[in-house]
Amino acid sequence: METKLLEPTHENIKEAARIIKAGGLVAFPTETVYGLGADAMNAEAVASVYKAKGRPSDNPLIVHIAEISDMAKLTPVVTDMMNKLAKHFWPGPLTMVVKKTENVPEITTGGLDTVAVRLPDNKNTRELIAVSGCPLVGPSANISGKPSPTKAAHVVDDLCGKIDAVLMGEDCRVGIESTVLDVSGEELTILRPGILTAEQIENSVGVKVNLDPALIKKKHTIQSPDRQKSDNGLLEDGDPDFKPRAPGMKYRHYAPNAEMLIIEGSADNVKKEIEQRKAQNEAEGKKVGVILFDSDDFEEAAHELFDQLRMMDKTGVDLILAGALPSEDGRGFAIMNRMLKSAGNNIVKV
Ligand code: TXA
Ligand code: MG
Repeated sequence: METKLLEPTHENIKEAARIIKAGGLVAFPTETVYGLGADAMNAEAVASVYKAKGRPSDNPLIVHIAEISDMAKLTPVVTDMMNKLAKHFWPGPLTMVVKKTENVPEITTGGLDTVAVRLPDNKNTRELIAVSGCPLVGPSANISGKPSPTKAAHVVDDLCGKIDAVLMGEDCRVGIESTVLDVSGEELTILRPGILTAEQIENSVGVKVNLDPALIKKKHTIQSPDRQKSDNGLLEDGDPDFKPRAPGMKYRHYAPNAEMLIIEGSADNVKKEIEQRKAQNEAEGKKVGVILFDSDDFEEAAHELFDQLRMMDKTGVDLILAGALPSEDGRGFAIMNRMLKSAGNNIVKV
């Protein structure tokens, strides 16, 4: 199939909307990462999204809307809390998991009775949703398991020939995926950390925000650098305590082809350890890449991480050595969540 690369003119957005209405697939830019769009209410179109990505069918998709009022089509009761959160954070990198109405197809929600909803901060993409006249599913527009796409070129690399079109756009401002917040029960719980932190949500709505315990456990998981990555794609398989409530969090993700090791410790120690391991591995004939961010520039780290991982693969690196970020800060925690997955939890303390 030929994949059309559509510059974001009004004409081209109309063309993209026609493709969506006919059941086709169009990737679109957002402030977090690029999404792979299809009509969220069309089960067949959604099935082809799973197929194009090679995504397991038990991993539900996020439904993207153009206006806060579109929530009413997807959830039976729009609560005061949902409205408050929407007014504070939309358009923006927040996804709300809410009870679903019957007209949301099961395939969209991976069989769950909840649906994840987000209003992205990209005006061309919101225009696409509005002109399509239906909410759009939008998993990250990458092949499942690869780093999420933060540039149009990443989408083209992964999905060219497999989807109908890409609505072209700028590099994504945030660079990691949205914070997924469960709003469907009594309490607010973060199921996937993002650049929008628990603290920011607490401060704006005045309610305590929990973290899914499966996420906290991961933070303390220290593995030996020699540990083999599990080859079935699951993290921590067989561990009964590790049952994340966002099904996608159990899969290995963002994985570069190269082996990756995270080094955690003081800035000086990390730098020394990286230099030493780099020299040692290069002496053994390996090509080594280094990812080292300023430990207090979380925005930059989020913006760069996936692009750097993809670049490592392009240049055929064998080993990636990466400095850990402090995860006491919610943004550092979110970035470390991605880095640990990329590294298959290979981390050493120095
Ligand atoms: O920033 C983002 O959220 C991007 C852009 C394109 O909007 N999208 C994205 O989608 O990251 P995806 O499909 O790659 O990740 C969706 C995550 C998965 O971990 C999935 O398991 C979880 O959200 N999720 C979706 N629906 C859910 C539900 N009803 N309950 C719990 N988790 C859900
Ligand atoms: Mg994804």
